[in-house]
Amino acid sequence: MQQEIQKIKKLFLRDCKAQKPLKELEIQYLGRKGFIHDLTKTLASLPADKRVLAGKAINELKSFVLQKIEKAKKEPHELLKSPARVDVSLPGKRVVKGHLHPLTLIQDQMVEIFSSLNFSVLEGPEVETEFYNFDALNIPAHHPARDLWQTFWLKPATSNQQPATNGEALLLRTHTSPMQVRFMEKHQPPLRIIVPGRVFRYEASDATHDIQFYQLEGLMVDSQVSIANFKAVIETFFKRLFGKEFGGMRLRPSFFPFTEPSFEVDFYWTRKERWLEVMGAGMVHPNVFRAAGFAPGEAQGFAFGLGIDRVAMLKYGIPDIRLFYSGDLRFIRQF
Ligand code: FA5
Repeated sequence: MQQEIQKIKKLFLRDCKAQKPLKELEIQYLGRKGFIHDLTKTLASLPADKRVLAGKAINELKSFVLQKIEKAKKEPHELLKSPARVDVSLPGKRVVKGHLHPLTLIQDQMVEIFSSLNFSVLEGPEVETEFYNFDALNIPAHHPARDLWQTFWLKPATSNQQPATNGEALLLRTHTSPMQVRFMEKHQPPLRIIVPGRVFRYEASDATHDIQFYQLEGLMVDSQVSIANFKAVIETFFKRLFGKEFGGMRLRPSFFPFTEPSFEVDFYWTRKERWLEVMGAGMVHPNVFRAAGFAPGEAQGFAFGLGIDRVAMLKYGIPDIRLFYSGDLRFIRQF
């Protein structure tokens, strides 16, 4: 028996040296079908006087093995240090990293194209005053044109505060156009800016309308700027963004209080062979220049407001605008 015990101990030490996995050692030596258990079973066949001694020796072997394995478990770094432990042929673990939202991706592409055309990029406040969102854009209080933009109004900070009546009431901006006047108040022509940002509308949502979405405002002002300049800039923009899928553009007469003439811009999408409406635009209205402090006739310019979500839906073939804001990872991970 003593010989057997010594043999198993030697074998165990050799296996330890060879860095056998701990789990394997545990099963092989301490398991229900392991070496030590097998030894214990042979005790019954020994005469009683030898049985006590042999039992003691087996117990010593068992605690020796147990101690060694427990110690190794507590010092995993020791095992890791050994080159024999690192199986370089195993596939690596994939590191999960985040990525940009499709709306950010498309916005970045748009910004890059306009930057290459010398437009500066700026952002404006999402909480806006009634003055910049409406009055300065030639939409006075009680004018029916305000109905074009269903508005989320903000309550005054304290309940006993009277709502402002002088254009200072606060709202969530309904479009990015307020930045036209904010910028022109502080800068002189020539001006070329784009303003990407989130806007809000108090309206029912459906597959192409949401209560929050992104717009990209554009403004170019100089002493002489014409519709031809507008067409050239926008055509270049679409060609670069859509490549072969851009099959031409057309302007349709429309109405915005802050542009005259105003138009809707349609884009011919070759993938589906149809016209799509993607932005509102026009030549800046003299009253807007006036609100910004420019003298009459001092400047000319065009402005446009493009729906970033709508363009992203086209480019990526997304059927419902609400998917962008759903937080559904199955959707987001496709980009
Ligand atoms: C405007 O908001 C004007 N400020 C655009 C403008 C700027 C005109 C400068 C002239 C000069 P409109 O409400 O049409 O216009 O919105 C512009 C674009 O935003 C639309 O063409 C559409 O692409 C997008 N859009 C409008 N409403 C929604 C909505 N509820 N959900 C998603 N996209 C929308």
